[in-house]
Amino acid sequence: QPGADHQAEDAVISQGVVESNHAGFTGTGFVNYDNVTGSYVEWTVTAAAAGTVDAVIRYANGTTVNRPLNVNGATVDFAGTGAWTTWQTKTVPVQLQAGVNKIRATATTANGGPNVDRLSI
Ligand code: GCU
Ligand code: CA
Ligand code: CA
Repeated sequence: QPGADHQAEDAVISQGVVESNHAGFTGTGFVNYDNVTGSYVEWTVTAAAAGTVDAVIRYANGTTVNRPLNVNGATVDFAGTGAWTTWQTKTVPVQLQAGVNKIRATATTANGGPNVDRLSI
Protein backbone atom coordinates (compact mmCIF):
# COMPACT_ATOMS: atom_id res chain seq x y z
CA GLN A 1 0.00 0.00 0.00
CA PRO A 2 2.60 2.59 -1.05
CA GLY A 3 1.61 6.13 -0.16
CA ALA A 4 -0.98 5.04 2.36
CA ASP A 5 -1.70 7.41 5.21
CA HIS A 6 -1.93 6.12 8.73
CA GLN A 7 -3.28 8.78 11.05
CA ALA A 8 -1.59 9.09 14.43
CA GLU A 9 -4.95 9.70 16.09
CA ASP A 10 -6.07 6.23 14.93
CA ALA A 11 -2.93 4.44 16.14
CA VAL A 12 -2.15 2.91 19.51
CA ILE A 13 -1.13 5.72 21.86
CA SER A 14 0.76 5.32 25.12
CA GLN A 15 1.08 8.45 27.24
CA GLY A 16 -0.38 10.89 24.76
CA VAL A 17 -3.70 12.44 23.81
CA VAL A 18 -5.52 13.17 20.58
CA GLU A 19 -6.01 16.88 20.07
CA SER A 20 -7.09 19.23 17.27
CA ASN A 21 -6.30 22.68 18.64
CA HIS A 22 -3.40 23.47 16.27
CA ALA A 23 -4.51 23.95 12.65
CA GLY A 24 -2.96 22.23 9.69
CA PHE A 25 -3.31 18.60 10.69
CA THR A 26 -4.79 16.00 8.39
CA GLY A 27 -7.49 13.52 9.34
CA THR A 28 -9.28 14.41 12.56
CA GLY A 29 -6.39 15.56 14.73
CA PHE A 30 -2.91 14.75 15.93
CA VAL A 31 -1.23 13.13 18.90
CA ASN A 32 0.15 15.37 21.61
CA TYR A 33 2.75 13.17 23.29
CA ASP A 34 2.91 13.53 27.04
CA ASN A 35 6.12 15.38 27.81
CA VAL A 36 7.85 12.34 29.28
CA THR A 37 10.43 9.86 28.10
CA GLY A 38 8.79 6.73 26.74
CA SER A 39 5.55 8.16 25.42
CA TYR A 40 4.79 6.60 22.06
CA VAL A 41 2.56 6.14 19.02
CA GLU A 42 2.45 2.71 17.41
CA TRP A 43 1.06 2.07 13.96
CA THR A 44 0.24 -1.28 12.42
CA VAL A 45 1.03 -1.50 8.73
CA THR A 46 0.84 -4.33 6.26
CA ALA A 47 3.51 -4.92 3.63
CA ALA A 48 3.17 -7.12 0.57
CA ALA A 49 6.84 -8.02 0.64
CA ALA A 50 9.83 -7.71 2.94
CA GLY A 51 12.13 -4.75 2.42
CA THR A 52 13.15 -1.30 3.50
CA VAL A 53 10.64 1.46 2.89
CA ASP A 54 10.46 5.18 3.62
CA ALA A 55 8.27 6.00 6.59
CA VAL A 56 7.24 9.65 6.37
CA ILE A 57 6.18 11.15 9.68
CA ARG A 58 4.32 14.48 9.58
CA TYR A 59 4.85 16.52 12.72
CA ALA A 60 4.98 19.93 14.36
CA ASN A 61 7.36 21.10 17.05
CA GLY A 62 6.64 24.63 18.20
CA THR A 63 9.72 24.79 20.37
CA THR A 64 13.33 25.45 19.44
CA VAL A 65 14.45 22.17 20.98
CA ASN A 66 14.82 18.90 19.08
CA ARG A 67 12.28 16.25 20.14
CA PRO A 68 13.90 12.95 19.09
CA LEU A 69 11.84 9.83 18.52
CA ASN A 70 13.13 6.29 18.45
CA VAL A 71 11.48 4.72 15.41
CA ASN A 72 11.83 0.93 15.48
CA GLY A 73 15.30 1.24 16.95
CA ALA A 74 16.66 4.25 15.13
CA THR A 75 16.77 7.61 16.88
CA VAL A 76 15.53 10.36 14.59
CA ASP A 77 15.64 14.13 15.14
CA PHE A 78 12.46 16.19 15.02
CA ALA A 79 13.73 19.75 15.05
CA GLY A 80 11.60 22.77 15.80
CA THR A 81 9.22 23.77 12.98
CA GLY A 82 8.70 27.34 14.21
CA ALA A 83 5.13 26.96 15.43
CA TRP A 84 2.72 24.26 16.56
CA THR A 85 0.69 25.05 13.42
CA THR A 86 3.68 24.56 11.09
CA TRP A 87 3.85 20.95 9.98
CA GLN A 88 6.80 19.30 8.31
CA THR A 89 7.75 15.78 7.33
CA LYS A 90 10.63 13.59 8.36
CA THR A 91 11.55 10.51 6.36
CA VAL A 92 12.84 7.44 8.15
CA PRO A 93 13.88 4.18 6.48
CA VAL A 94 12.25 1.22 8.20
CA GLN A 95 12.60 -2.48 7.58
CA LEU A 96 9.34 -4.32 7.07
CA GLN A 97 8.50 -7.98 6.91
CA ALA A 98 5.91 -9.36 4.56
CA GLY A 99 2.61 -9.14 6.38
CA VAL A 100 1.79 -7.25 9.54
CA ASN A 101 4.36 -4.89 11.08
CA LYS A 102 4.46 -2.44 13.96
CA ILE A 103 6.08 0.95 13.67
CA ARG A 104 6.56 2.53 17.08
CA ALA A 105 7.79 6.10 17.56
CA THR A 106 8.92 6.61 21.16
CA ALA A 107 10.04 9.83 22.81
CA THR A 108 13.61 9.60 24.04
CA THR A 109 13.71 12.72 26.20
CA ALA A 110 11.67 14.18 29.05
CA ASN A 111 10.26 16.73 26.57
CA GLY A 112 8.25 13.95 24.93
CA GLY A 113 7.77 13.85 21.19
CA PRO A 114 6.68 16.48 18.74
CA ASN A 115 2.98 16.64 17.91
CA VAL A 116 2.49 13.91 15.29
CA ASP A 117 -0.16 14.07 12.58
CA ARG A 118 0.35 10.92 10.54
CA LEU A 119 2.62 8.28 9.08
CA SER A 120 2.73 7.73 5.33
CA ILE A 121 4.33 4.60 4.01
C1 GCU B 1 1.91 23.14 24.05
C2 GCU B 1 1.15 22.74 22.80
C3 GCU B 1 0.99 21.23 22.70
C4 GCU B 1 2.36 20.57 22.80
C5 GCU B 1 3.04 21.01 24.07
C6 GCU B 1 4.44 20.46 24.25
O1 GCU B 1 1.14 22.84 25.19
O2 GCU B 1 -0.13 23.35 22.81
O3 GCU B 1 0.34 20.88 21.49
O4 GCU B 1 2.25 19.18 22.74
O5 GCU B 1 3.15 22.44 24.13
O6 GCU B 1 5.35 21.24 24.56
O7 GCU B 1 4.65 19.26 24.09
CA1 CA C 1 3.32 17.33 24.17
CA1 CA D 1 -3.86 13.33 11.82
